[in-house]
Amino acid sequence: MTMKKLKWGMIGGGEGSQIGPAHRLGAGLDGVFEFSAGALDHRPDYGIDYGQRLGLGDRAYGGWEEMLEAEKKRDDRVDLVTVATPNATHFEITKAFLENGFHVLCEKPMTMTIEEGEDIVEIAKKTGNICAVNYGYTGYSLVRHMRAMIARGDIGKVRLVNAEFAHGHHADATDADNPRVRWRYDPAQAGVSAQFADCGIHALHMASFVTGQEVEKLSADTVSCIDVRTLEDDAMVNFRMDGGAVGRLWTSSIAIGRQHGLGIQVFGETGGLRWSQEHPNQLYYMPLGERLQVIERGEANLSPEADRTSRVTIGHAEGMPLAFANIYADLAEAISARKESRIMDSAANLYPRAEDGLRSMAAVFAVAQSGKEDGKWMDARPPMFR
Ligand code: NAI
Repeated sequence: MTMKKLKWGMIGGGEGSQIGPAHRLGAGLDGVFEFSAGALDHRPDYGIDYGQRLGLGDRAYGGWEEMLEAEKKRDDRVDLVTVATPNATHFEITKAFLENGFHVLCEKPMTMTIEEGEDIVEIAKKTGNICAVNYGYTGYSLVRHMRAMIARGDIGKVRLVNAEFAHGHHADATDADNPRVRWRYDPAQAGVSAQFADCGIHALHMASFVTGQEVEKLSADTVSCIDVRTLEDDAMVNFRMDGGAVGRLWTSSIAIGRQHGLGIQVFGETGGLRWSQEHPNQLYYMPLGERLQVIERGEANLSPEADRTSRVTIGHAEGMPLAFANIYADLAEAISARKESRIMDSAANLYPRAEDGLRSMAAVFAVAQSGKEDGKWMDARPPMFR
């Protein structure tokens, strides 16, 4: 990877936010992106103060519009902008930065509607700017290896994918009215889906990422296990993929005892693979008729995609900020290759795209509708990809 410095900015991710620190760690890890600008908080004074404490100087802005106006006039403008604000603001901010010549990494869900998602895909195409979406868990080395193994036929034709993202952090009915929890299940603020749009889309995207197949149709059983909620806190989604794979997905926020709870299993005609985000350094592989094997991150003779994304030697724990760092490393390579008019490293060309963000949005609406219609099968593809 080139080590020429790139400039990076962030919107949202202010002090005390959930995901801001992981972005700063991920972007900073390789020393390629220099944190140069930010509009970090919805409260201008807090954003400026925090940005200055993080060393942004006069490039700590009070709002994203101000940041856009100031940055677009600079010769040393930021090369990449991360949008890590609440969901309803993603579309407007991402659109504005793309249209003004910036590359963007947008948090998921990329938009609130399918139409907005289609707009972003079209704007990215028209402007030629990169719009990536932070399905950051695809940055794990062994997830990349799983994808490479499936692509080269190690488990044969994929028959079945089983994906999960089930945690228990909203399981307390006595806390369900707490405003910090309640908004997530309120359609006026969260849109058509709660748990599936928040977590389920990570698992669904991962199913596509590792199999190389896209979701065509789905049927969902959505429920609010806690009565005061309008939107679902649990969903079971059956789906079918365009390469013939059958998909099962469970997502929940009331699964007491589960922590992060993201995992994926893929079963093919000649083998099976299993990986879980809480134990990211092991991939379980069972070739048909042989013994179960444990593939360790960092071991010899893995795929180039796995080698590129393994950061410390075998046996040392590697986790989520390093997975995010791999998304940033992909983007650094993509942006540098453009600046230097060269072909990018193909092993880095794996960051999730606006098209993936759009596919998720179509799936979110299909799940919500199917849930309302007793599990009726729905076309899960965005209209522009049908
Ligand atoms: P949060 O509520 O903890 O933090 C949001 C931050 O954005 C706060 O600092 C707030 O002041 C700031 N903010 C809000 N509106 C703003 C505006 N208009 N301009 C500038 N700053 C603004 O939220 P959290 O949990 O960090 O989530 C942010 C986004 O990241 C969400 O879209 C969420 O879905 C996504 N996320 C993604 C994860 C992943 O694994 N990819 C994990 C967690 C969250």
